[in-house]
Amino acid sequence: MSQEQQQHDGADAGRLVEAATGARECALARYSNFCVGAAVEADDGRVFTGCNIESAAYELTMCAERVTIWKALSEGARRFRRIAVVADTERLTPPCGACRQLIWEFCGDIPVVLANLRGDSETLRMSELLPRPFDADFLAETGAKE
Ligand code: THU
Repeated sequence: MSQEQQQHDGADAGRLVEAATGARECALARYSNFCVGAAVEADDGRVFTGCNIESAAYELTMCAERVTIWKALSEGARRFRRIAVVADTERLTPPCGACRQLIWEFCGDIPVVLANLRGDSETLRMSELLPRPFDADFLAETGAKE
């Protein structure tokens, strides 16, 4: 990757973290008080954001990443460049297992930018976060009907 490309990616990641940080402000987290924001960038440059939304029936709670992906998919986005996840934690907050599955299925092996409110960030690829995934390719390989 050229230096120019790296700088460009860095700028885009920063912009995505900013969008996720803003989205976090909308979190409805009255039960856990754990507010999360996420932002995903589609390959046409559109940025979709989301926050976690908690229900009094706790198990209906939806993570920020999934809200974000549902918003993007329901607006017609199908290919993605990267996703950012922001929480106010010293140790950077990674996506939960369910979100890893869905980010993998709908976004593929994209970079996941983890960030907090103190300016720390780290980028991991989805294949690092979800090795040996169960997905459509795996099902097809096994001969299961799609
Ligand atoms: N949560 C997210 O939104 N994303 C994550 O990556 C981890 C967890 C939310 C779900 C719940 O509302 C709260 O954080 C505590 O688990």
